[in-house]
Amino acid sequence: MKTYYIKTFGCQMNVADSNLMQAHFESLGMVQAKDLSDADTVVVNTCTVRDHAEHTAMSYVGRLKPFKNDNPNLKVILAGCAAQRVGENIKKRFPIIDLVVGAKNIENFKKEFNKICELDSCFRGNDNKRAGDDSRHGKNEGKNRGKGNVCDFVTIMRGCENFCSYCIVPSVRGPELSRPFDEILSEIETRVKLGAKDITLLGQNVNSYRGADKHGKKQDFASLLTKVNSVKGLDRIRFMTSHPKDLGQKLIKTIAGLEKVCEHIHLPLQSGSDRILKAMNRNYKTSDYLKIIDTIRKEMPAAAITTDIMVGFPGETKKDFEKTLAVTDRASYDFIFAFKYSPRPGTKAAELKDRVSLKTKEGRHAILLEKLNKADENLNRKLIGSAQEVLVEGAADGKYFGKTRTNKKVYFSSGRIKPGSLVKVKILQAKFN
Ligand code: 5AD
Ligand code: SF4
Repeated sequence: MKTYYIKTFGCQMNVADSNLMQAHFESLGMVQAKDLSDADTVVVNTCTVRDHAEHTAMSYVGRLKPFKNDNPNLKVILAGCAAQRVGENIKKRFPIIDLVVGAKNIENFKKEFNKICELDSCFRGNDNKRAGDDSRHGKNEGKNRGKGNVCDFVTIMRGCENFCSYCIVPSVRGPELSRPFDEILSEIETRVKLGAKDITLLGQNVNSYRGADKHGKKQDFASLLTKVNSVKGLDRIRFMTSHPKDLGQKLIKTIAGLEKVCEHIHLPLQSGSDRILKAMNRNYKTSDYLKIIDTIRKEMPAAAITTDIMVGFPGETKKDFEKTLAVTDRASYDFIFAFKYSPRPGTKAAELKDRVSLKTKEGRHAILLEKLNKADENLNRKLIGSAQEVLVEGAADGKYFGKTRTNKKVYFSSGRIKPGSLVKVKILQAKFN
């Protein structure tokens, strides 16, 4: 039996795309390789959001050379956002690559992969199982994906057209495209039948979802959430990522009123300085952002709010950074994903001259992390003594583990219990980052 190995870098969208590729391999009768040295096909699904992310993925490709030397029939596939950015040219640097499938082209993966396999006869015998449907989402996206996971992800839209001035995503993933409403629902029902209890709806900008239903009527994100909330057997719904400009009061009220939607909102701030937000083309001011936070706190008092913050955007002064710190205090985040600005080729911000030095970026990054650790400690400590609903995902090192509705990982001891069960766990101890 032929084997595949997928190495995924980057965000959950990439994980979802890797799942799509995995579904195709399994539909061809291939099985997952235990490790790289057992693989007949290796996919490196890449990220390019920051230079460092692209570099890490490309170094991984470089390390595949000895495996190709040992097995010249090994197929090496470069997929994802960095693949989209660098294109076929990358084969000059890494001649071991057989196929480049950029993030925009993921729907053609089946066709392209089948083509390279026809070049040799290695996959003959599985021909009758080959599939070849193509739309930008791929028909029945994720349908054949192997066994079920308790926590699963379903892509509801692809691409982004916000054009934040620092961001390469719109150019490597293309414009926004919402998946058809009923197709999403039927995929969720399939995932639930396979054992999923907690589903995250994925997209670069989920709040602007507008997908057609089977009657051709456009449905928005609130109607999608409402419908998913009625799926039998599903316990929890999450979504990612929200853009502050599209998270209105009405949507927050809908979210708060749906019992399966978890009390966890990821709402990227990026900067707490209006001047920098403008240069980033974020389309909101700090005051708008804080109003949203207040509405979330009012409608969902138990909510965990997490964010993305970037330090060292061109022109960011000490004062701008202090404004960011002030907003983080006011917002009281459960977690901050902190990034150092990295210029990306072709973006507006890459042309800006007023670069912040690496040393300053590192200093600001460290301050933000220290703040986060303190906040994390306080918030987690508050949970000691409380009973939390935990969805059991599995066991490791003699303990069961799972997450709270607010997305905090909990380890606990118990008699025999099945993954997918909801249990109440009393919190005895809190750990921090
Ligand atoms: N440099 C640093 N961080 C970036 N992000 C996006 N583009 C860049 C960049 N050029 C961050 C943003 C985004 C997160 C996914 O990655 O904070 O929300
Ligand atoms: Fe990039 Fe902005 Fe789109 Fe997010 S919303 S993917 S940061 S352009």
